[in-house]
Amino acid sequence: MVSGDLDAILAIESCSFPTPWSRGMFEEELGRDYSDAIVAQPVEGGGVAGYAVCWCIAGEAHLLNIAVDPRFRGRGVACGLLEECIRRGARCGADRIHLEVRAGNEDAIRLYRGHDFVFMGIRKGYYTDTGEDAILLSREIRERDAK
Ligand SMILES: CC(C)(COP(=O)(O)OP(=O)(O)OC[C@H]1O[C@@H](n2cnc3c(N)ncnc32)[C@H](O)[C@@H]1OP(=O)(O)O)[C@@H](O)C(=O)NCCC(=O)NCCS
Repeated sequence: MVSGDLDAILAIESCSFPTPWSRGMFEEELGRDYSDAIVAQPVEGGGVAGYAVCWCIAGEAHLLNIAVDPRFRGRGVACGLLEECIRRGARCGADRIHLEVRAGNEDAIRLYRGHDFVFMGIRKGYYTDTGEDAILLSREIRERDAK
């Protein structure tokens, strides 16, 4: 992800989340050395099909954001982004990856379950915009994930 991607990312962000991240939040991620901010580009032409932001700190990875342009959903873009985050986590020495997901976000939960994430707990009312609970999911990262 580079700053030139941010207009496209903010457009995807605003149609993907009830409380989208701001430009400043993405710019902060671009400046953090422990943050991996990545984009998937469409094969045909430039632009942004999807993106993910993942931290690697103290031997653990944390997926903070992932979204795909609605025109590119259902084609494996999020799978590719998630696998790249896991690969980068493995390469920086993380042994687990964690994330929070809205309890009603069935598409995302299916994506994570398909990648061996397991239920760790619930944070009641974590999302203050809708009052939804957060489901905490986590997955072990193995050495072979680095390949
Ligand atoms: C959740 C989200 C990121 C998933 O993105 P996506 O790119 O559509 O996901 P994928 O295509 O990788 O996988 C979704 C489905 O497509 C299937 N798929 C994978 N490759 C495919 C292909 N080549 N053709 C058709 N379907 C395919 C996957 O198997 C999966 O199917 P399943 O759900 O029945 O198991 C997307 O819906 C989104 O941006 N939502 C809004 C933001 C959001 O909620 N983010 C998560 C926050 S925790």
